[in-house]
Amino acid sequence: MTPVFAQRHLLGTRSLTAPEITDLLDRADRYVAVNRSANKKLDVLAGRTVVNLFYENSTRTRTSFELAAKRLGADVVNMQTGASSVAKGETLIDTAATLNAMHPDVLVVRHHDSGAVSLLSQKVNCAVVNAGDGKHEHPTQGLLDALTIRRRKGRLEGLKIAICGDVVHSRVARSDIHLLTTMGAEVRLVAPRTLCISGAESMGVSVFHDLKKGIADCDIVMMLRIQNERMSGGFIPSTREYFRFFGLDREKLACAKPDALVMHPGPMNRGVEIDSDIADDVERSVIREQVEMGVAVRMAVLETVTRNLAQERGEPWEKTK
Ligand code: CP
Repeated sequence: MTPVFAQRHLLGTRSLTAPEITDLLDRADRYVAVNRSANKKLDVLAGRTVVNLFYENSTRTRTSFELAAKRLGADVVNMQTGASSVAKGETLIDTAATLNAMHPDVLVVRHHDSGAVSLLSQKVNCAVVNAGDGKHEHPTQGLLDALTIRRRKGRLEGLKIAICGDVVHSRVARSDIHLLTTMGAEVRLVAPRTLCISGAESMGVSVFHDLKKGIADCDIVMMLRIQNERMSGGFIPSTREYFRFFGLDREKLACAKPDALVMHPGPMNRGVEIDSDIADDVERSVIREQVEMGVAVRMAVLETVTRNLAQERGEPWEKTK
């Protein structure tokens, strides 16, 4: 089946339509079953090359893109920017042009600057997937969060979803807001004033500065990591005080619906934004399931953008797959 999402690049969730999101999630859903089977190897991307270019640290995203590409049969190269000519001062665009000259099919890029991945996508003739750019977007995280919720709750429309914590520094929050509001969820941001996005209401969300009030009657409580690496100081008085008011523990979670699920994109700061008691409670926490859905979503995305690239290049696809 031809993908509904017809672009060569996936740079964000902001421009995705509900049918495009639904199609990507449906494709990912099918890959969940593949990933749970004994033989996980497919030939969907046989002969194709995927390059992971990560300028920022990553455990989940980089590993799951590598697994996703390998399970689809692609060849994968993981660029270690610290051990590459980036360390000698080569620019992002020169690095991209160099890699592009080796004819990859997909570049998966994480960069510390918002907008850097979009800029790069204009300089190459392969497909580009944004694996997180600064505070801007992390589209595959948004998709995997949506898949996790849809599988557990059966839908996205009409759910009350609270995104809590360090919203201002979070690309995950921005991708989730765009995607979940497009799919008809009621999204709330819950954060101290210093960590909230100014004018957030224009994004179609409501804003709370009290965790118990913000998660009241919610179906999903999504906690965000305090991103110390993006702070220059002064955003929170102390981690102990932050946990007291904005850290999720069992007492505060009792304000949400009795069957509310707890999410976190990882990596977690235990005892800062989330209590271990909640993070490790398999009845409430779907944090490990989010990681599992990440592989399936990235398989769906890699398949989709590579098909779109093949279509653009006039290369055969269905005949060979
Ligand atoms: N959620 C997420 O992006 O995790 P990593 O930084 O480990 O990739």
